[in-house]
Amino acid sequence: MGAGVIARFGHAPAILQTPGLVLASVYDPSQESLAEFARTHPGVEVETFQDRNAFFASGISAVSVCSSAPAHLSNVREAAAHGLPVLCEKPLAMTDADIAAMIGLMEGAHLPLVAAFCYRFAPVAQSIKHLVDAGAIGAVRSMRLIYNWNLHGKYSYENGERHENPYRVGRMLEGGPMVDCGVHQIDLARWWTGSEITDYTAHAAWVDEEFEAPSHMWLHMDHDNGCHTAVEMSFAYTHTAKEPISMFTYDIIGTDGILHYDREGWKFEMRNGTETVRMPGSSEKNFVGMYHAWARALRTGDFSGLPNGRDGMVATRTARTATEECIARHRSAHKLGKP
Ligand SMILES: NC(=O)c1ccc[n+]([C@@H]2O[C@H](COP(=O)([O-])OP(=O)(O)OC[C@H]3O[C@@H](n4cnc5c(N)ncnc54)[C@H](O)[C@@H]3O)[C@@H](O)[C@H]2O)c1
Repeated sequence: MGAGVIARFGHAPAILQTPGLVLASVYDPSQESLAEFARTHPGVEVETFQDRNAFFASGISAVSVCSSAPAHLSNVREAAAHGLPVLCEKPLAMTDADIAAMIGLMEGAHLPLVAAFCYRFAPVAQSIKHLVDAGAIGAVRSMRLIYNWNLHGKYSYENGERHENPYRVGRMLEGGPMVDCGVHQIDLARWWTGSEITDYTAHAAWVDEEFEAPSHMWLHMDHDNGCHTAVEMSFAYTHTAKEPISMFTYDIIGTDGILHYDREGWKFEMRNGTETVRMPGSSEKNFVGMYHAWARALRTGDFSGLPNGRDGMVATRTARTATEECIARHRSAHKLGKP
């Protein structure tokens, strides 16, 4: 459900590459999105629907919810009513209450809900999990997870005219960098440490001053095992630059070593008391790995290794409340009205 950018470039190609899954039907209320989907998937036999009832009557056995976030809850509600397992894009919903409702609907129907945290399935993220669990760097005490980028730039150009990039505007209006991207890092921090967040503080900056949401944010989280995670997220890093660059790193600091990943340098290494190991880099996302895991779970009924609704709820709640606290503090400190 939803045939936008992430469905076209992330989900659909991954479903097509997963044994046991068939991309059967695509629903989107927008004819334009469906046409773009068809254009980007030449030769793929798939039924497309603008009519929800016809989509649900098309014989499907599971649903990927890839629509824009405000439409997630209603889509999950209908999937649950039709008895279908769901994999839902982040953020699961716009509010805590809506996410709780979503979880309740799926549990009430005895159906599995998977939060589409595709970062967990990246080879680098999987290796970090295995190395941390094996004690390769001792006990993890501190993590610093950074993603600074321009979200495809502040402006796009059409026929020589400059326009505000609509894709970036949509993401800023949905909550900005921590809500949109930071949920992945919050999820990784909980998953890698196997430890819940007990407390957090956040600070923010309005590099791009046009939006209510901050364009650059820092989140400091304490875990119940004593570990600390700092997440830095920006949608305004080189957002007006002619030659933009990105910064994407993970630093995992343990009592006997570190793990360091730099996506831009395709660098991934471990340094501990006995050795320095240079490992292959990878992308930070892995939709194919996520769909392989989902297909396996659908087949076996064992969803234990997959991110669930609660994981989605904790990450979204943390990112959203942290963002809202920063906005409130900024407004009161600078005596600002609502933009
Ligand atoms: N996991 C990731 O790395 C990642 C990356 C980008 C976006 N996302 C998430 O994926 C979701 C979609 O993002 P996108 O970039 O594809 O956005 P998009 O705007 O390109 O596409 C959204 C699509 O949803 C459709 N839509 C609107 N209402 C709908 C409804 N009621 N039912 C079904 N479809 C509906 C729109 O017509 C549009 O085609 C968002 O929740 C976003 O946060 C995740």
